[in-house]
Amino acid sequence: MRRLLPALLSLALPAAAAEGEAVFRGHCANCHAVTAGAPAGPGPNLAGVDGRRVGGDPGFDYSPVLQAAGEAGQRWDAAMLERFLADPEAMFPGLWMGANGLREATDRSAVARYLAERRTP
Ligand code: HEC
Repeated sequence: MRRLLPALLSLALPAAAAEGEAVFRGHCANCHAVTAGAPAGPGPNLAGVDGRRVGGDPGFDYSPVLQAAGEAGQRWDAAMLERFLADPEAMFPGLWMGANGLREATDRSAVARYLAERRTP
């Protein structure tokens, strides 16, 4: 088991990351860049969003609800991203995202993990 577990993890982790990337490409990439330093598109750049202040892309003009959450000290982490994606407007009424979240819990956790990996050092 001691040898099997790392072997299994090394198989499972890249698969999960690829899944998150595929879901992101299909549902999010039209509006969100994930490369550090890339300009914001219709939505803010999400590179490094895990751990970042809500409303924290300096190149993006956020809605009042996200600005207020950031000013109140809220920060994104993987669990919060998953909850957000279940129903974005329920977490932030008045959000300007113009997109629904993701219906499948497995997609939500895959995207949250994918974004966590885009964390900039
Ligand atoms: C139609 C364009 C569009 C799509 C598609 C979209 N978003 Fe967004 N997203 C936005 C906009 C615009 C905002 C800023 C909303 C505001 O200011 O209220 C935003 C905000 C966010 C934020 C908050 C960022 C921050 O800096 O606080 C996260 C996280 C996010 N989106 C994740 C996602 C994910 C993950 C997907 C795919 C499942 C997605 N979005 C799909 C346009 C989009």
